[in-house]
Amino acid sequence: MKEVLEELKIYLSWLKEMGINSVYLLPEQRKMLEKLSSKQQLLQEIKIELGDCKRCELWKTRHKIVFGEGPAEAKVVLVGEAPGHEEDLQGKPFVGAAGELLTKMLKAIGLSREEIYITNVVKCRPPHNRNPKLQEIEQCKPFLIRQLNIIKPSVICTLGSIATHTLLQKDIPISHLRGRVHLWQGIKLIPTFHPAYLLRNPGSKKLAWEDLKLLKKVLEKSI
Ligand code: URA
Repeated sequence: MKEVLEELKIYLSWLKEMGINSVYLLPEQRKMLEKLSSKQQLLQEIKIELGDCKRCELWKTRHKIVFGEGPAEAKVVLVGEAPGHEEDLQGKPFVGAAGELLTKMLKAIGLSREEIYITNVVKCRPPHNRNPKLQEIEQCKPFLIRQLNIIKPSVICTLGSIATHTLLQKDIPISHLRGRVHLWQGIKLIPTFHPAYLLRNPGSKKLAWEDLKLLKKVLEKSI
């Protein structure tokens, strides 16, 4: 979708150069563009509101805020825990070793990263990759909730216990929550293991594969 919009932009600026200042759009095309751009605009507004965030202590040690990336009209949103070293430097989610595994896992079920929106519960890296503190999660959570409410995906997939517990508010081990579909504000939510955990515990990859197959099945049913 990003490429289509990019191409459309180039085409429109080319038309403008040719002196053509308006194009006819079918009502459904206009509606789609308006919907797309309003979702993107709303996400942009949250990003602006987040600004150079200093709501918790993490700003002192972070390099870049990792807001999230992907199409605003994504059918799947992945929610991780917090940026790691590489993510903090690049300002993008899941670009380190865990991200590589995540990309491979998605590819295995026929999904590319470009069609998925990826974000984290906490938008700044906790020092030395420690778990985010409750107070940090509480400060950042409203931004995640707003991202999810704007995108309104068909499925949310939470990666690891922090993301799962933050959204489901159930203090039950991830190993008991995974493997089935939950609901978050009416949206289907599938918890699975965090890819960083899978790198340390490759024996659990089989279970994560089951979760991804479930994700694919739920997604296909909702289209
Ligand atoms: N781990 C996460 O939870 N999120 C990232 O973006 C990267 C690693």
